[in-house]
Amino acid sequence: MFKTRMTELFGIKHPIMLAGMNWITEPELVSTVCNAGGLGIFATASCTPEETRQNIRKIRELTDKPFGINQILIGPGAQENIQVAIEEKAPVINYSLGKPWFVEQVHSYGGKVLGTTAIARHAVRAAQLGCDAVVITGHEAAAHGADATSLVLIPIVARQVKIPIIAAGGFYDGRGLAAALVLGADGISMGSRFMLTKESNIHDKFKQLCLQATEQDTLYSDRFDGMPGRALKTEASEAMMKSGFPLVEAVQGALEIKRLLKLSLWKFIGLSFQMMRAEEGSPLWVQARQAVSARRSMKAIYEGDMEEGILFAGQDCGGISDLPSVEELIDRIITEAEEILEATKKLVHPQKK
Ligand SMILES: Cc1cc2nc3c(=O)[nH]c(=O)nc-3n(C[C@H](O)[C@H](O)[C@H](O)COP(=O)(O)O)c2cc1C
Repeated sequence: MFKTRMTELFGIKHPIMLAGMNWITEPELVSTVCNAGGLGIFATASCTPEETRQNIRKIRELTDKPFGINQILIGPGAQENIQVAIEEKAPVINYSLGKPWFVEQVHSYGGKVLGTTAIARHAVRAAQLGCDAVVITGHEAAAHGADATSLVLIPIVARQVKIPIIAAGGFYDGRGLAAALVLGADGISMGSRFMLTKESNIHDKFKQLCLQATEQDTLYSDRFDGMPGRALKTEASEAMMKSGFPLVEAVQGALEIKRLLKLSLWKFIGLSFQMMRAEEGSPLWVQARQAVSARRSMKAIYEGDMEEGILFAGQDCGGISDLPSVEELIDRIITEAEEILEATKKLVHPQKK
């Protein structure tokens, strides 16, 4: 058993978090992680406000443990989704990109605010803005890590902020949890590893591809969704690296997002302008790539479409070779981390003076 600032802050049994992943972190997976003692996070960016509300209520039906929602603040519908999460008193609000305007509101009902960043300076800013903890994402991670690896980033942030740190990017086993704690984190957040469990909804074809992948089989590029990010190396993702600007597909993807979020054309265009003007906003070409990425991700996750589907995935897929249940996985990670830290203690011999 581990007792860290992360377990204390959130009132959870194990210092392990399910990272928010659009289309993957459905209420069933989130609640399974919570019931197994971790912190499940539900990604809301692809939800309408009403869906966000229904999903939060569904998670509450499936677990009485703390859980969270994850929202990218510069995305369409961010304000509305955050407002719903506050109305529903979600125990944890995890955000990325943008400035959280809701810290006091969340604190007023006893909720916690969890920032996510891949840059030490932004972690310091999150702490200054009143965040209760911060997820820091290393270069190894699926999707949006920045240039620094977890090995470099965690100790730097640990020296600069006093709030609890959750390490993300490259963590998938007990060795990783032990390493994160030693580096100065209070727990780990895992995306790829939870994506490769029995309960995860991703198409079996992509589960099998990830299991076969080595640590070399991902690509890091801004070609996927306009921001530097990591995806599984496949013929489709390699082709995307070489192709020109996908204008037709961007329009198709934008229409798909507009339909999913049930937005009128004018509201959709208005939000696009808002995203361009926001402090950490996205220019139109980035938004266009995001639309393509959303379409391609759904093709991979739901349809197992190998020709067009693209799956965000971390380098750690190279170390993952099975599909355990969430409960088996969490128990295994905790036991392994305990054993490793115990064994490591035996390496220490006080210096003779
Ligand atoms: C398929 C997939 C989809 C993801 N989608 C999102 C997302 O919608 N929002 C987000 O903030 N991070 C997303 N991530 C990144 C995770 O939140 C997390 O930072 C990352 O998985 C950590 O690295 P790891 O995969 O090595 O554990 C996604 C990751 C994966 C594997």
